[in-house]
Amino acid sequence: MSFDVQALRAEFPILSDQVHGKPLVYLDTGASSQKPECVIEAMSQYYRHQHANVHRGIHQLSQTATDAYEATRDKVAQWIGANRREEVIFTRGTTESINLIAQTWGRTQVRAGDRLLVSELEHHANLVPWQMLAQSTGAELVKIPLLPDGTLDLNVYEAELARGAKLLAITEVSNALGTILPLADMIPKAKAAGAVVVVDGAQAVPHHRVNLAEMGADFYVFSGHKMYGPTGIGVLWGRFDLLDSLPPWQGGGDMIEHVTFEASTYNTLPYRLEAGTPAIAEGIGLGAALDWLNSIDFDAAVAHEHEVFDYARQQLKQIPGLRLIGEADEAAGAISFAIEGMAASDLGTLLDHQGIAVRTGHHCAMPALQAMGVNGTTRASFGLYNSRDDVDALIRGLNVARDILA
Ligand code: ALA
Repeated sequence: MSFDVQALRAEFPILSDQVHGKPLVYLDTGASSQKPECVIEAMSQYYRHQHANVHRGIHQLSQTATDAYEATRDKVAQWIGANRREEVIFTRGTTESINLIAQTWGRTQVRAGDRLLVSELEHHANLVPWQMLAQSTGAELVKIPLLPDGTLDLNVYEAELARGAKLLAITEVSNALGTILPLADMIPKAKAAGAVVVVDGAQAVPHHRVNLAEMGADFYVFSGHKMYGPTGIGVLWGRFDLLDSLPPWQGGGDMIEHVTFEASTYNTLPYRLEAGTPAIAEGIGLGAALDWLNSIDFDAAVAHEHEVFDYARQQLKQIPGLRLIGEADEAAGAISFAIEGMAASDLGTLLDHQGIAVRTGHHCAMPALQAMGVNGTTRASFGLYNSRDDVDALIRGLNVARDILA
């Protein structure tokens, strides 16, 4: 049976809305996915009937809230193939997860002269924290450069690894160009060179199954809001022994075991790295998103999304003057392009007036775009709910924009 995208779309209330009086064509899932009704409802139910703080109260509501929130940790562990629930640390999102690693592992383990390998493709969230770490420790930031097709120069990668590496910070899927990185090949080489491997999975988790036991990374991070869950909740996964060796990050409630005025002892994982009242409703919403992903035929939905993605690439290439920015064979989620003589911001605005939501600009990946020879692109990004109709609408919208701008 073929995948029923219309039935899936019906679960997303916002997809029936209009923008500027036109049916919404949502092609900005790379920035944030839309939410199915069950996620919205789970968060609403929590606030209506379950709200209390977690991990603290003896009373029934607190226990109910704690159970609902902690259930998400098990669901995340199961979804990503973690060995233990304690390996799942909740954060505000990918950015916070990477900063946590840089400020705990990085500050205690990285020394002057250590080499931090970071790809040129990274979102700023997986570059700037390492720049800051290099500046504060005297470590060296080493670039793995991009090739013109939007893939990485793996020859340079291997040469740089051979010179030594303390860290490899790498995305699994590029938010700006859609390139899927060959991590199955890259990670074992980094591990053999003695590097700690941090993988940004923000743009990967929504587009295919991940299995961290197989991947071999040390840390893997992602956000709830790009995988059909709410904003404000994300995940830092780490190998248990490595996570357990980290010093506390933020101090406060929940992360302690015993406190005197002079000093404290600290809680066990995962709580030691989760100070303060967490994002409870958002955690419950993420759990609902995972329940939803488990309830659909995810593999069929992913195959459908990839088919729409391939169709979009083919159709876009037919538009005169349009150049794809990044043409890796292995790609998912995002397609970046430029049209000769037309500013991305103008294209984005004209598409918006037709109800078509895309992102324009540097996509928080300025070095990647600089390497590709552009300052900004127009980016269409896809989710499980997109269809060929959305692509056709985009193509029509671009032709209208070309007529206006020509
Ligand atoms: N990282 C998000 C994007 O690529 C915000 O749009």
